[in-house]
Amino acid sequence: MTLAGLFFSASGPSMPVASRLRDLTTSVCPLAMIGHIRVFVFVLLISLLARGAYCETAAQRGYRHLTERAYLPADFDQETFDQLWQVWPEPLRQQAAKATPRSRRDMAFKRYGLTYRPGDTTGRPLQYVVSASGEWTMNCFACHGGQVNAHSVPGAPNSAYALQTLTSDVRATKLRLGKPLARMEVGSLFMPLGSTNGTTNAVMFGVALMAFRDPELNIMRRRIPPPMIHHDMDAPPWWHFHRKKNLYIDGFAQKGSRPLMQFMLVEQNGPEKFAEWEREFQDVFAYLESLRPPPYDGLIDRALAENGRIAFERVCSECHGTYGLDGGEYPERMVSLAEVGTDPVRLRALNREHRRAYHESWFGKFGETDVVLEPDGYVAPPLDGVWASAPYLHNGSVPTLWHILNPARRPVVWRRSGTQLDPDRVGLQVEELTKVPRSAKSSVDRRAYFDTSRFGKSAAGHLFADELSRDDKLAVLEYLKTL
Ligand code: HEC
Ligand code: HEC
Repeated sequence: MTLAGLFFSASGPSMPVASRLRDLTTSVCPLAMIGHIRVFVFVLLISLLARGAYCETAAQRGYRHLTERAYLPADFDQETFDQLWQVWPEPLRQQAAKATPRSRRDMAFKRYGLTYRPGDTTGRPLQYVVSASGEWTMNCFACHGGQVNAHSVPGAPNSAYALQTLTSDVRATKLRLGKPLARMEVGSLFMPLGSTNGTTNAVMFGVALMAFRDPELNIMRRRIPPPMIHHDMDAPPWWHFHRKKNLYIDGFAQKGSRPLMQFMLVEQNGPEKFAEWEREFQDVFAYLESLRPPPYDGLIDRALAENGRIAFERVCSECHGTYGLDGGEYPERMVSLAEVGTDPVRLRALNREHRRAYHESWFGKFGETDVVLEPDGYVAPPLDGVWASAPYLHNGSVPTLWHILNPARRPVVWRRSGTQLDPDRVGLQVEELTKVPRSAKSSVDRRAYFDTSRFGKSAAGHLFADELSRDDKLAVLEYLKTL
């Protein structure tokens, strides 16, 4: 299919009726007309009151697409989800057997790291689209929507998502119920999904899927899968999006609506689907741009935080920028691996060939967008809302901000011990260990432990806080709560 063909179908007959109707309602949205026809302001205000319900901003549409529209084939159905507890280990299974359906669902949400949607009372998860007929389909919030201090926050990294555990429980349940296996249950036999809860092998999913496409995204089934370096990453919070020009920890890809669509590269989605859905992803783009971090919800010692600001601006700002009422300035600075010293695996795993294939494809507008083919390090992320996005570093190896500021005290192994925020160290409540205990026999149990001695999971590096005195560290910790 030609490029023109791709675009034609975006505005041509295959455009869904629902989105045409939506366009019609937004084009007569009174809010948009007020600026142009001032004479009719009064009349329009009245009509605004009458029709306000139909006005939806692009950002609101974006959130709706993500939570209501299945861009992938369904993962499993309601019956499968409701039966998952039957394959749980004891004593969990016994507890579930005795529980009410509602608390059994709560138990399932907890086991897999799912949360309810804010402001929604239907009991649907934020992380899956659930169709009227009960089909569950993973959405972006699976990794990009989670709990902050026990509240469900869209756009916060999902630090509890247990994709591998969910997938193996779904596989066992489907086999028990005699239902056919879907993409994830089969794919996970060839590809690790995530070896620690809260992190996923997402970057390699993209590489694997792109290997079977030509630049125009036609599916090339006969190719041989490329060698891959599997590694897990912690998803970044989406409230950084508006600050950035380039995406990902190595800042390799220019920001745009197309990069947001890589997640949809499954066999069922041919090039025409990408062209058709690009408009909706412009709304998703607007939604991401609109997000801001939640304000810190505990007490802040303002005088101490002000001392912290001074120390921060002396030691940290050259890379992380400044913050404040004026919005501050974010330098988006690439720091070489030699200087930052954090885990190198992610940088190497996405190699020059992968980046080039991305650049020359539809995602990189056939070479038009900016792509860094050989980044030599990681980009220092913005720190807005950093209190709410634990764990830290791109691989999620450091559980609290205190541990970022005290590198020598970072645990070798840690495990979450609660869903609340640790207000003293600012981050996850964790139990610290020197190795994964022998009692963690099953792989499900082992995925609860973050073991920094494993490949791609190092918590080393980023020693910049060593320049700060003990008092300055305390003050910087307080300041970080205010961002
Ligand atoms: C399986 C987990 C997973 C899913 C599902 C997922 N992402 Fe991500 N996303 C990640 C990870 C991990 C990264 C970090 C990758 C990196 O930096 O190399 C990321 C990075 C991003 C970034 C870059 C953010 C930044 O600050 O640089 C954006 C934007 C993004 N994802 C959007 C999306 C959208 C939109 C969807 C759904 C269409 C989606 N993601 C689905 C895991 C996921
Ligand atoms: C020379 C540049 C540089 C300096 C100076 C620096 N950082 Fe960083 N920082 C980085 C880079 C690069 C990363 C990303 C590293 C990674 O994820 O592997 C990072 C990551 C972080 C993170 C983790 C963010 C997240 O969302 O995971 C925090 C928190 C942080 N820095 C705080 C600080 C503080 C506080 C200071 C000052 C004491 C500081 N940094 C000084 C470059 C720097």
